[in-house]
Amino acid sequence: QLEAVIFDLDGVITDTAELHYQAWQALADELGIPFSRAKNERLKGVSRKESLDIVLEDSPLPWTDAERLALAEKKNASYRQQLEQLSPADVLPGILELLDSLAQRGIACGLASASLNAPLILQRLGIASRFQAIADPAALQKGKPDAEIFLTAAELLGVPPRNCIGIEDAAAGIAAIKAAGMQAVGVGSPEQLGAADLLLTSTTELTVEKLLALFGDSGQ
Ligand code: G6P
Ligand code: MG
Repeated sequence: QLEAVIFDLDGVITDTAELHYQAWQALADELGIPFSRAKNERLKGVSRKESLDIVLEDSPLPWTDAERLALAEKKNASYRQQLEQLSPADVLPGILELLDSLAQRGIACGLASASLNAPLILQRLGIASRFQAIADPAALQKGKPDAEIFLTAAELLGVPPRNCIGIEDAAAGIAAIKAAGMQAVGVGSPEQLGAADLLLTSTTELTVEKLLALFGDSGQ
């Protein structure tokens, strides 16, 4: 039985995936490193530090840890500047309605985002109070595709993983949800998210009925 829905943030609740992309592209341009939307797919769901390592794969220079730290901070500063413009209007279509329907049915909501900026983003979107649990990525050993972040959110909610649904826009995220023993809902393309139990092309299609149907429950 469905007891909790655990959301990814970037690309599911709001389109910060695009803002991340722009900030990485700007950094890569500045460093003269090739970067593309295709490469950006690999950064979705991946921590800031690991994302930078992927961006720097195409650089011939041997970046030191201190230099890498400075570059990650630089990217984050330009990203956070973009976040200042974020408002409740930036919650993706269908998400507020879904949060409402879940609350009405007493289904808990959790957050499993690798972003250290997640609390700030939820606040700017005006939906922080809708989440009963937020997994803190700084306290985790392993990032997605490891199951840890989803398992942590479920534990904070006090719900067994088999009674949870995870919603993701990244391949690493779908892998993490499946590894956690949860039902996975993907929002995106079949090329990236083929492993999802339910694949939707946009958040507008996310309804509580479709989520309940994954548990063989029509909701009636
Ligand atoms: C999310 C995004 C990633 C991002 C990561 C860290 O998982 O999908 O693209 O790199 O969060 O975000 P942060 O805000 O901490 O740099
Ligand atoms: Mg995401």
